[in-house]
Amino acid sequence: MAHVPVLLDEVIRWLRLDPAGTFVDCTLGGGGYAEAILKHLTTGRLIAIDRDPRAIEAARERLRPFGNRIIYWRASYSEIGRLWEWLGEPPGTVRIAGMVADLGVSREQLEDPGRGFSFLTDGPLDMRLDPEQPMTAARIVNHYGEKPLAELIFRFGEERRSRRIARAIVRARPVVSTRKLAEVIERAAPRTPRERIHPATRTFQALRIAVNDELGELEKLLEAAPPLLASGGRLVVVSFHSLEDRLVKQALRRWAGSGVLEILTKHVIRPGEGEVRSNPASRSARLRAAEKRMN
Ligand SMILES: C[S@@+](CC[C@H](N)C(=O)[O-])C[C@H]1O[C@@H](n2cnc3c(N)ncnc32)[C@H](O)[C@@H]1O
Repeated sequence: MAHVPVLLDEVIRWLRLDPAGTFVDCTLGGGGYAEAILKHLTTGRLIAIDRDPRAIEAARERLRPFGNRIIYWRASYSEIGRLWEWLGEPPGTVRIAGMVADLGVSREQLEDPGRGFSFLTDGPLDMRLDPEQPMTAARIVNHYGEKPLAELIFRFGEERRSRRIARAIVRARPVVSTRKLAEVIERAAPRTPRERIHPATRTFQALRIAVNDELGELEKLLEAAPPLLASGGRLVVVSFHSLEDRLVKQALRRWAGSGVLEILTKHVIRPGEGEVRSNPASRSARLRAAEKRMN
């Protein structure tokens, strides 16, 4: 059975689904949100985006019963501004009733050793969501200079020991597998007694963000999404670390400041204890929602 995606009930509640509306799932992934949205639709439709073709193929199988209520778009969500062009419809013919983005990687991607996202299994240092892009984690790890590598680990991983880790990586080159990288990091920056997470966690996060330009992607999405919404249409974003959440918070504030959006979540929404217990990966999830003001 497919697992329950993070904050599913909250996402559905904040989207306030209109059965006849057009919705966009910017991060289809395993299709959990998409399935729940589609169950609420009668004449409405769902446009489902993912930059990972394998995610789309798997979700297509799962969501077959919904027929042509779902339209798949293999793309980066930063391209959302091209939605009408891609649909072949004149711009603005149909306004979007709700849009959701559930950032980061899916469990399917994380648990596939061949994708190289996790240090818990051994695999190639890949980490690409889009398998056709040239940049991989191995390229960064083996070709960046020590200083830019340290800066990247510090900035995207918020890792205080970035310099020490970068030095150790450069000395250990070539580093081609996830396990070897995790070992190099662990040796350079051993776990302190107060540390809850594995010493490689932050560096792996940093590499993933860099490989997929995750923050750049998110900024572009947050810039392009609000104009596509109908009056009363909602934007719901689930993020997983403070770098993402900060961008979401700032962008929503900017749009609220110019009168385009109204922020609905005065405080960020987090999973309850029960959800964290049954799905520990949800512990860092944060949801923010906003509504489009009258045009
Ligand atoms: C956390 S998962 C989504 C899980 C989904 N909500 C579910 O219910 O199964 C994130 C998905 O977003 C995709 N993704 C990440 N960044 C993307 C981007 N910039 N553009 C399009 N898809 C992206 C990933 O490939 C992944 O499949």
